[in-house]
Amino acid sequence: MGYDMIELTKDGSVATIKLDRPKALNALCAPMMAEVADALSALEKDDAIGCVILTGSEKAFAAGADIKEMSNLEYLEIYKTDLFHNHESVARFRKPIIAAVAGYALGGGCELAMMCDFIIAAENTKFGQPEINLGVMPGIGGTQRLIRAVGKSKAMDMCLTGRMMDAQEALAANLVSRVVPVDELMETVKEAADKIAAQSQPIAMMTKETINASFEMTLSQGVQFERRLFQSMFTTADQKEGMAAFSEKRKPHFKNK
Ligand code: CAA
Repeated sequence: MGYDMIELTKDGSVATIKLDRPKALNALCAPMMAEVADALSALEKDDAIGCVILTGSEKAFAAGADIKEMSNLEYLEIYKTDLFHNHESVARFRKPIIAAVAGYALGGGCELAMMCDFIIAAENTKFGQPEINLGVMPGIGGTQRLIRAVGKSKAMDMCLTGRMMDAQEALAANLVSRVVPVDELMETVKEAADKIAAQSQPIAMMTKETINASFEMTLSQGVQFERRLFQSMFTTADQKEGMAAFSEKRKPHFKNK
């Protein structure tokens, strides 16, 4: 499938999806999100890819769901088509995915970044959940994921006032893992993605799955889930290789099996 609203590139074992609707500040319209879902589905099946980067432009990661596309929709129409189903493809993606965020990450843009495994932000980033200014609330997981990232007080503040949060505030609030100068963003994220992609792919996927399971489980269920998957890793050649490489003082060569 050729893409009109995203750019998909591959460099080594890392794929980058760049949202590319600059005139609309990457507003997340349905056709663009269908392309994102299609690309992710192909990348999940592509054994050569070990990590994905989701990014936008220096001005906007994404300024939200497409307000113009949404404004005249009716309830039954969006219920039947399950509005935002394709947006959730980022959360459903099973391989590691990093959000490289610069500029505006508002509404659905902030929600999309939060669906990724972690966020590295440029110094000019502005996060926000301004939906309340439009007479709605976040609708792509913002009320649920923001509170888990930053806690109740700041999540309420962001969603009820609709104000923006800069990159340093987002770092202090644990919404992002790192903040870097704008011109170092892609290089920093690529370095992290290369490191992840060099690990054993199934082990990285199981690690991601286990961390995400913590949102759905009690502590004892989560610890049990972790133990079972940890034990299952001893069926893999990559566990044998990783531990042998340590003993032999050399770099491991993982075979993803
Ligand atoms: N949807 C559709 N179009 C958008 C958009 C959006 N979310 N955000 C920006 N655009 C469009 C603008 O309409 C404008 O298009 P035209 O040139 O055709 O008028 C173009 O992008 C450039 O935007 P601005 O002229 O407004 O640029 P600016 O630099 O003056 O302001 C901004 C930037 C502060 C981000 C401002 O564009 C803005 O406030 N955008 C909307 C942010 C927002 O409310 N996001 C939440 C969307 S709702 C949502 O996401 C719901 C959900 O959770 C599911």
